[in-house]
Amino acid sequence: MPQAHDLLSRRPEWRALAEHQASMQQVHMRDLFHQDPDRFRRFFAEAAGISLDYSKNLVTTDTMARLMALARACQLPDRIEAMFRGEHINASEDRPALHVALRNMGSEPITVAGEDIMPEVRGTLARMEEFVWRVRSTQWRGFTNKPFTDVVSIGIGGSFLGPKLVSASLKPYWHGRLNCHYVANIDGSHITEVLRHINPETTLFLIQSKSFKTQETLENTKVAREWFLHNGGNEELISKHFVAVTANTREAIDFGITEENIFPMWDWVGGRYSLWSAIGLPTALTIGMENFRALLSGAHAMDQHFRTAPLEDNLPVILALLGIWYGNFWQADAHAILPYDHYLRGLPAHLQQLDMESNGKCVTQAGEPVDYQTGPIIWGGAGANGQHAYHQLLHQGTKLSPADFIIPLHTHNPVANHHAILFANCLSQTQALMQGKTEAEARAELEAQGLPPEEVARLAPHKVIPGNKPSNTLLFERGTPRTVGALIALYEHKTFAQGVIWDVDSFDQWGVELGKQLGKDILDRLLSRDALPGANDSSTDGLIELFRSRHHN
Ligand code: F6P
Repeated sequence: MPQAHDLLSRRPEWRALAEHQASMQQVHMRDLFHQDPDRFRRFFAEAAGISLDYSKNLVTTDTMARLMALARACQLPDRIEAMFRGEHINASEDRPALHVALRNMGSEPITVAGEDIMPEVRGTLARMEEFVWRVRSTQWRGFTNKPFTDVVSIGIGGSFLGPKLVSASLKPYWHGRLNCHYVANIDGSHITEVLRHINPETTLFLIQSKSFKTQETLENTKVAREWFLHNGGNEELISKHFVAVTANTREAIDFGITEENIFPMWDWVGGRYSLWSAIGLPTALTIGMENFRALLSGAHAMDQHFRTAPLEDNLPVILALLGIWYGNFWQADAHAILPYDHYLRGLPAHLQQLDMESNGKCVTQAGEPVDYQTGPIIWGGAGANGQHAYHQLLHQGTKLSPADFIIPLHTHNPVANHHAILFANCLSQTQALMQGKTEAEARAELEAQGLPPEEVARLAPHKVIPGNKPSNTLLFERGTPRTVGALIALYEHKTFAQGVIWDVDSFDQWGVELGKQLGKDILDRLLSRDALPGANDSSTDGLIELFRSRHHN
């Protein structure tokens, strides 16, 4: 059990940051830039093809040194090593978190329970390679001998968001013939809309579920199966059209998936960290195995950086510490992810699961309640669209939400001056957030328009923009498989590093279980023709009865 003095908020490094924050309250970033012409260079880092400009943050070199001291006091370097060595860093589930093994390009063994897992990881990649080749080269065809045209991935959470993000991010690398669809929601409209547009003869279903117990995925798979059987298929043909990825082979076989069509998953990979495993099959089918391996190699390059770079130059560590700075010392509850890249528009949704499911925790690894803030609310959307929607709150609202602006230097689609305009939009936002507009500037602008003094006085307060709002700018050359891999791995490690400092288990998700448990009883009551005794609160009981009144006479 940790001693009281071990608790994060009692550490001297924590108190040193709190004191420092008090001295930073009157500091404006505009002045920091004026005082130090080298600020851009000073707060700039690069790794694995990703560059990070973090100069537009409310930090000085002293701030960064104090944050690094906190990371060291929390033994971050040791915990990073512990993850790579396969120690049971997921304490509440007593297992390792070894997504890094899935993209390990090195030759060293990685052991789980004394056994090297690398041969199985490589063997699975080889199986994926063969499968992808057979589908793409039309060796594996549908039941009427036509090549596949559509892949439908059925899965939810980590078995959905990660692969969907990567598929969309790498659209320029898609195979011309193969279209890829994702079905996640138990709202029947989702699968209905997908099935409406595809042909059973040329559709391959990938059932993606680590546990093979997830209600949404199993129910949607039943619908897909019935649809297949009623549209020309039969039981014998299922094996040509249904493939599964799961750690629960028994359950998948019982469900009717042919054993040879099942790709493995392992309990040492968390769902939200699984896109690098066979859960990435829909992506691999559309972008090809060579590109999928490039994705893994980009992630591996970031892994190596995270493991070996000094904390001061370590991109995931810098991002993690900046998040802690704002969340714990400036009362920021949220963090925005703003990709200025149409293909990366799914990044906020993926990072919502990655970050919020990992660090949305209120007890320490030892089960003690925390007395400090943990994971932030992750939100965001595609730039420049957000500028015409929620950026107003970033500029003049009362909430603080630091933001990551993410943009490639080159576009896959040069159209007129679009990319330069996009880039200008991105930079103008971070600049406006940082410098704002003073009252004197606002007044001068209004006076230059020839407005009378009373109008200038009336309008000026509305035109003042406080500025001093922090942002990071992340850049890469182009959205290639390698850079997308490195970018996602960067955020995975940022999340883990924050979890280490907050001393929470970033790899469990017990919070999602209660809703699942309660849902079973509620479903029974909704479906029952007879009113079952209500053991719930009057709100839930009342809503159940409202539903039943519409569905049972
Ligand atoms: O409900 C949350 C969750 O357990 C996620 O962590 C996971 O990614 C998702 O459900 C799907 O789980 P599975 O892959 O086992 O179907």
